[in-house]
Amino acid sequence: MRNPIIVALDVPSADQALKLAEQVAPAVGAFKIGKELFVAAGPDIVKRVRATGASVFLDLKFHDIPNTVAKAVASAARLDVQMLTIHTSGGSEMMRAAEKSANETAKALGTEAPLVLGVTVLTSMDSPALSEIGCLPNVGHQVERLAALAVQSGLRGLVCSPLEIMALRQILPAHIQLVTPGIRTGAEKADDQKRTLSPREAMQAGASWLVVGRPIYAAENPRAAAESILQSLA
Ligand code: C5P
Repeated sequence: MRNPIIVALDVPSADQALKLAEQVAPAVGAFKIGKELFVAAGPDIVKRVRATGASVFLDLKFHDIPNTVAKAVASAARLDVQMLTIHTSGGSEMMRAAEKSANETAKALGTEAPLVLGVTVLTSMDSPALSEIGCLPNVGHQVERLAALAVQSGLRGLVCSPLEIMALRQILPAHIQLVTPGIRTGAEKADDQKRTLSPREAMQAGASWLVVGRPIYAAENPRAAAESILQSLA
């Protein structure tokens, strides 16, 4: 079985990110580079994490006109990332442009196309927040609607919360990869994640990849924390 643990490098500097990556690399499957680190350290941090041999998930959640998103995806593919995110609310044309760009850029480079993951409804959005922007007020319905649109538009994967995995597995083709944050082992201190599952529960529910941040990087021994999560999946 491949290692499904993606560690979120949610730290503010390249030095901290590389130190953490080196510490936990043997126990994890990939690293997620998000807005905080990318804006601080630039594309160079992607190259430096890739240079360790680790896979990279570039979580910048692109949302723009199709041409701009296609070009951003091409730039990400040239950085040799293995996964990246776009907002499904950018619409079908934007999603198709992103997927096409991922495939065409990789083909030109002779590499494997990065997995373009669709983000549906941010977990910070609740029913009143969705109504406010003119969307279906039922969060679950809006998630399912955007997930179906993403699949129709050719995306091969989605980001979803732990509590959405089961419902999405019922309606999506089996080849769709689901990447799930909101993972908690019970060993860590309570924080802002409210709707969580354990790593094992999330995999049993149908997750393909687990994004884990604080339970690993804020642990006293990040390497041991990652190893213990991996063992819990065996
Ligand atoms: O520290 P923690 O395990 O909560 O980190 C989870 C990671 O997944 C963070 O990088 C966070 O931004 C991201 N994420 C999330 N919930 C979402 C989408 C992304 O926690 N709905």
